[in-house]
Amino acid sequence: MKKTIFFLTVILVLSAILLSACGGSAAKTSTRPEPPSEYANKTNPFAGKTDASDAGKTVYEANCASCHGTGGAGDGPAGAALDPKPADLKKTVAEASEAYMFWRISEGGGMSPFNSSMPSWKGTLSENDIWNVITYMEMNFK
Ligand code: HEC
Repeated sequence: MKKTIFFLTVILVLSAILLSACGGSAAKTSTRPEPPSEYANKTNPFAGKTDASDAGKTVYEANCASCHGTGGAGDGPAGAALDPKPADLKKTVAEASEAYMFWRISEGGGMSPFNSSMPSWKGTLSENDIWNVITYMEMNFK
């Protein structure tokens, strides 16, 4: 009898540990950090708009394709030697929020935890052009 209770307790404790471990990882859809508060509530004002996507295509091909590749897969020629490598933007579009993308394109990778050669674009591209390129990514990188 004592043995049975002991084993039941062990099984209960083990399944509790297993359940909490599974629950923890299942709840996480992305390992990306949250954008800082000044970016947290941003949403794409041009979402789904073809003219914004067309303008974004020009921005993308001039500034991003060299590293991220024409199709966004992270396989551009200028990115081959980089560590970390350029992100697969199809994954980014599928997994990350618009606020996250706007933040990362604006601020780049010259900060923790990224420490990458992703350039900061906020001094080069207007806010509208950053949203245009996000619209292009959303409508084409699937
Ligand atoms: C010099 C190469 C280079 C260029 C040019 C470049 N990137 Fe990046 N980018 C990177 C690298 C490397 C990473 C991965 C490391 C990181 O997240 O900082 C990255 C990451 C990103 C991310 C975050 C992806 C994620 O899933 O977390 C986004 C969004 C992004 N780039 C968009 C762009 C856009 C849009 C442009 C053009 C305006 C651009 N990048 C131009 C190198 C580049």
